[in-house]
Amino acid sequence: MLSSSQFLSPHFKWSERQSQVLESLAQEFTLSTAQLETLTTEFVRQMHVGLTSTKSKDLAMIPTFVTGRPDGHERGSYLALDLGGTNLRVCLITLKGDRQLEAHQRAFKVSDHLQEADVTELMDFIAISIQEFISSEHISAKIVEHPSDSDTLELGFTFSFPVTQTAIDAGVLLRWTKGFHCPGAVGSDIVQLLQDALNRKKVNVHVAALVNDTVGTLLAHSYKHANTFIGAIFGTGTNGAYVESARNIKTMTTDADEMIINIEWGNFDKDKTVLPVTMHDNKLDRESINPGIHVFEKMISGMYLGEITRNVLLYLIDQRLLFEGTSSPTLNRHWGFETKFMSAIEQDNSSTLIPIAQILEQDLGIYLNTQVDREIVKFVCQLVGKRAARLSAMAVAAVVRQGLKAGTLAEHGYPLKVSANDEVQAKQNGSKVEAVGHGASTKDIIRVGIDGSVFEHYPHFEERMYEALDEILGSSAREVVALGIARDGSGVGAALAALIATKNSAGST
Ligand code: BGC
Repeated sequence: MLSSSQFLSPHFKWSERQSQVLESLAQEFTLSTAQLETLTTEFVRQMHVGLTSTKSKDLAMIPTFVTGRPDGHERGSYLALDLGGTNLRVCLITLKGDRQLEAHQRAFKVSDHLQEADVTELMDFIAISIQEFISSEHISAKIVEHPSDSDTLELGFTFSFPVTQTAIDAGVLLRWTKGFHCPGAVGSDIVQLLQDALNRKKVNVHVAALVNDTVGTLLAHSYKHANTFIGAIFGTGTNGAYVESARNIKTMTTDADEMIINIEWGNFDKDKTVLPVTMHDNKLDRESINPGIHVFEKMISGMYLGEITRNVLLYLIDQRLLFEGTSSPTLNRHWGFETKFMSAIEQDNSSTLIPIAQILEQDLGIYLNTQVDREIVKFVCQLVGKRAARLSAMAVAAVVRQGLKAGTLAEHGYPLKVSANDEVQAKQNGSKVEAVGHGASTKDIIRVGIDGSVFEHYPHFEERMYEALDEILGSSAREVVALGIARDGSGVGAALAALIATKNSAGST
C-alpha cells in the first residue's frame, strides 16, 4: 500500500474523499520497479517472437534492409521527405563528411481532410509539395546525388507508419496510426504510390529509399555519434529501431552481419496481458479510431497523454472532487485537453499555481478553480506524465537487454543487469566501460538517438527515464546508456538512407 505522504505535499488541503480517490489513482498509475521488470521481460519475449515468426504478432520486428551504420564520413546532397504527423517536411540535406551537415527544409501542413482522404489525393499533395520545394530552392540534378547521368533527383522518404519492407525502396503499409486513415494505402507499396504520383505530376524525382522515422533517427544519430544502437521517437507517436545481429533474425536471410530492425513498439502487448491499463486508458482506446491497436503507444505518446488526463479529470469532476463538479464545453470535448497543457502545468512551480489557473481559464474555459483544484490537476498530470516516461524507459531497457543477451552488445561486458536477480553482468568479465557520467563521451557508451516533442519538451521526461533505466538495468545505467536528442533526425536519416541505397544500386550495376 502506498502511503499518501508519498504523493501529497503537506500543504495540500484535500478532503478525506479527495485523498482516498487520488491515492487510489496514484496506485493505478504508479509503476513499481517490480512491474517495470515484468514488463521488460515480456517485452524481450515479444521481441523474440517477432524476430522468429512472420505470423501476426504484437511486435512486428520489421527487417529494414538497412545494413550497417553511417560513420560520419558520408558526403553528398540528397532530397529527403518526412511524413508522420500533421506536417510534411521536404528537405535538401548536404552531408559534408566529418559529421557535419547542412539542411534546408520547408514544412507543408497536412490538413485534417488529407489525413483521411483517398491515398491518391495524399500522394498527389506530396508530389506537388516536392515540386514547389524544388522550384523555390532552385534545386537541380547538378547538386543532388544520382547514380546515373540522368536528370532525375534521388530522394529518401521517411514514412512514420508501420510498413513491412521487402527492400530498402519497397514496403507495404500494415496499418495507419496517429489519426491517419487514408483508404487505398493499407496493403499497398508506399514507394510505388509516391512514385506514381510523382510521375503523374511530372516531377522528375526517384524514390530511392523508404525508412521509418526511428530508422532515420538512428542513422542521423550515427552520423553524429559512434556507437548509436537505438533510434527512438517519443512524440505524437512512439516507436524504436535498433541494430540486431543478422543471426538472430529468422524471418529473412541476409549476407550482412547486422541489420536495423523497426520494432513498432507502439503495439507492444496489445492484448494487455502485462500492461497495467486503467479504466481511463481503456476508455481512450475504445473511443479511438483504432481500438485494440497500439495500446502501449496510447499510454506514452503526445497524441494521447492529454486525452488520458482529460478522462481522469472528468472522472474526478463527476464525483464532485474537482471544480465543484463543473466541467466546461472544451473539457467535455473529445481531445479537448492537449498534451501541451500538461507540459505547461507540470512546469508551474509557483506556490499559488496562477499559471495553471490561466490555462484552466483561457484554454479550457474553467473560470472557477481553487488552489486545491489546481494542485489536483497538476497531480494528475504528474501521474500520467511520469508513467509515460517510465514506460518509455522500459522499452529502451528491454532493447538494450536484447542487445546484451544475444545481439550486437553481447561481447562488450557492460555493467548492466540482464535480468531481475542478475548481479551486474560485467562484474565477472571486467567491464570495458569506464564510469564517466552521462553526457561524457567514450566510444563504448550505448547511444540512443531520440526525436520527438514529448522527450524534448515535456518537463522531467528525460530525468524520469533515467531513473527508471537505473531501476531496470542497475545503477550504472545512466553512465553507460546515453539518451541523446537527434532533433529532426528523420530528414537527415532519409538522406542517409538515399545515400546508402544509391551507393548500393551503383555498386550492383
Ligand atoms: C508508428 C511508427 C512510428 C511512430 C513514431 C507510430 O504510430 O506506427 O511507425 O515510428 O509512430 O512516429
